[in-house]
Amino acid sequence: MNVCVIIPAAGRSRRFGQSDKLGQDLGGRAMLIRTVELFAKREEVKSIIVAGPPDPPEEYQAFREKYGATLGFHGATVVEGGRVDRWETVKSALARVPDDATHIAVHDAARPGASRELLDRVFEAAENLPAVIPVVEIGATIKRLGEQAESFEVAEDDGIADAILGDVGKKAVEARSVEATIDRTNLVEVQTPQVFRADLLKRAYAAEDLSGATDDASLVERLGEKVYAVEGDVRNLKVTTPADLKLMRAVLNLKPPAERPVHKRF
Ligand code: CTP
Ligand code: MG
Repeated sequence: MNVCVIIPAAGRSRRFGQSDKLGQDLGGRAMLIRTVELFAKREEVKSIIVAGPPDPPEEYQAFREKYGATLGFHGATVVEGGRVDRWETVKSALARVPDDATHIAVHDAARPGASRELLDRVFEAAENLPAVIPVVEIGATIKRLGEQAESFEVAEDDGIADAILGDVGKKAVEARSVEATIDRTNLVEVQTPQVFRADLLKRAYAAEDLSGATDDASLVERLGEKVYAVEGDVRNLKVTTPADLKLMRAVLNLKPPAERPVHKRF
């Protein structure tokens, strides 16, 4: 097996808010570096491509300056990703996959918690199957809501405020109606790394219209080719919000930077 790992790292961390989530401290190293380290020493991984933010151009330069040396040390190549959608980023990185790669793995930079066992499982399956993705069961009850939120006035027992303020003092709650409860039999949540035979993923990304693809496997599915799911790991969560970062620190058993000695922060 000759695996090339693509790490999309060009997102804008909008839901994370104040700062770039991939630069957050995880035990003295940035999240992005932690994620790359998961693959750097694996025997089947022969190349790693990290796709950073493409624009404005200063942002790509800043990304290279911040991470380039460490990524280079791990043998990773840095390329420019895509502006808006994740698939743009993967497509741009695919152009740089070495010709001798037999497999391509795509793993979110925002998932630094993938365990060695999980990676073993996915790569082992990918030796025998053309397209493999890790999945976890959905524990919650899933419902579909109507599009529109409705506003309802809430009755308050504060008679005096009502008398003084009239309607102005009344509160409103926004609520959306439930349209359906989804049968969750066989429904799963998808994770990365998703691993493909190199020719298959290249063919999937050669399609004219890639819009709407939120993971790589869906493009392989569009070709009519089979994708196989193996057991994922709940600890392999994607850091999306600041609360997820706290969870990730707990998963990796790390203290937040403020609780570590000053000389060990970065
Ligand atoms: N990603 C990417 N290129 C994009 C969009 C996302 O490389 N155009 C990457 C992110 O950097 C991340 C992974 O895809 O590693 C998963 O995306 P997500 O968690 O949505 O990260 P962001 O897009 O950065 O966050 P948000 O959607 O909240 O802005
Ligand atoms: Mg996103």
